[in-house]
Amino acid sequence: MTSPPYSDQRKNTYGGIKAEHYVEWFLPISAELKRVLKPSGTFILNIKEKVINGERSTYVLELILALRKQGWLWTEEFIWNKKNCFPGKWPNRFRDSWERLLQFNLNRSFAMYQDAVMVPIGSWANTRLKNLSETDQRRDNAKNNSGFGKNVSNWLGKEYVYPTNVLTLATECYNKSHSAVYPKELPEWFIKLFTQEHDVVLDPFVGSGTTMFAAEALIDHQLASISYRIISR
Ligand SMILES: C[S@@+](CC[C@H](N)C(=O)[O-])C[C@H]1O[C@@H](n2cnc3c(N)ncnc32)[C@H](O)[C@@H]1O
Repeated sequence: MTSPPYSDQRKNTYGGIKAEHYVEWFLPISAELKRVLKPSGTFILNIKEKVINGERSTYVLELILALRKQGWLWTEEFIWNKKNCFPGKWPNRFRDSWERLLQFNLNRSFAMYQDAVMVPIGSWANTRLKNLSETDQRRDNAKNNSGFGKNVSNWLGKEYVYPTNVLTLATECYNKSHSAVYPKELPEWFIKLFTQEHDVVLDPFVGSGTTMFAAEALIDHQLASISYRIISR
């Protein structure tokens, strides 16, 4: 799990890699990540392109294609929706308030612990599930033959559901003296989803160490609950 320097950003703090050189700069690093990642492991890359000369830079898209050529599978893209982004005004666009979290794997089958990131079903269920129609009580297939379908009655009695691939998190950070930290909840969510205790988490652009603090806190949490169980026995 890592967030490398984005292209052309923060030149004064840690230099800026030009968009046209980004892929050649990154590929030797991703080759090393490919070498050390377990076959069932996941690589999450937090990155975002900015607007240069009135156009979105394409370096992230080029990087995705280059990583695929290097042997990675681009298995998913998550969106970090920054819910407390300040409003802004530009003549031809709105404030950017999301970043990419690209998921890469070495194999189509990888370790994923979806139950670890379930979320409360939410108050919509109280009203929506109160009076179920006849259609709600059977699988209702999508009319466009996409293969999707739903059975609303399956949600009856459920308190927790699986989340979507959009993560809505505040940008607030714990380390105010580093210019580009991400919130602890971001690595925490991916560590829970893709690892279990005794797995290894690596952040090659560790910066202020947010990923490591998140991993450590999860171990502490697990140890705390294990010792609690032992004591209560
Ligand atoms: C976007 S920040 C990551 C911040 C980190 N996620 C955190 O929450 O603190 C990128 C970090 O990569 C570091 N960095 C830049 N070039 C590097 C390199 N060649 N090798 C290792 N780290 C580098 C920078 O100093 C910076 O701390």
